Amino acid sequence: MDTIASSEKTTARHCPPNRAQDGIAAALRTFPTRNPDNLIPILQKVQSLDGYISPEATKKIAAHLRISKSRIFGVASFYSQFRFNPPGRHSVRICLGSACHVQGSDFLLNALQLDIGIEPGQTMENGRFDLDRVACLGCCALAPVMMVDKDIHSRISVIKLKQVLDEYQ
Ligand code: FES
Repeated sequence: MDTIASSEKTTARHCPPNRAQDGIAAALRTFPTRNPDNLIPILQKVQSLDGYISPEATKKIAAHLRISKSRIFGVASFYSQFRFNPPGRHSVRICLGSACHVQGSDFLLNALQLDIGIEPGQTMENGRFDLDRVACLGCCALAPVMMVDKDIHSRISVIKLKQVLDEYQ
């Protein structure tokens, strides 16, 4: 495995509903002015609680800021950092930055989507992987690059892609 960052793997945190709800209420209380300009920091704070922004959280944020849920989705969808479904046990990120793009990362993303049956922004039904694309992982000389959890995998090919995925169950 070609890894340049080896650190412990992250695991998805799934909070019991009551704990998550308490956390959302506490997060919103730290933004008492109800200013819609606080939407991005609120989304960041709420997502940090359990890894995604749940329908219940979206409803509470909309009520707190007195804005529509569609406005929240509209703003959040502009930023790839926000998720509206629970993270998988392992998070896969394909880099589509310029250096990776010229090395065929689009093709790799298509192969990956076919292999695990989900598109960017989605999580497998069995919870094994969630998938997203990123603009640059900061190691362009190793393109094409993919990140699984906190591990960087370099010079990925379609064959190597499958071998890497097999390491994460
Ligand atoms: S463009 Fe992919 S790591 Fe920089």
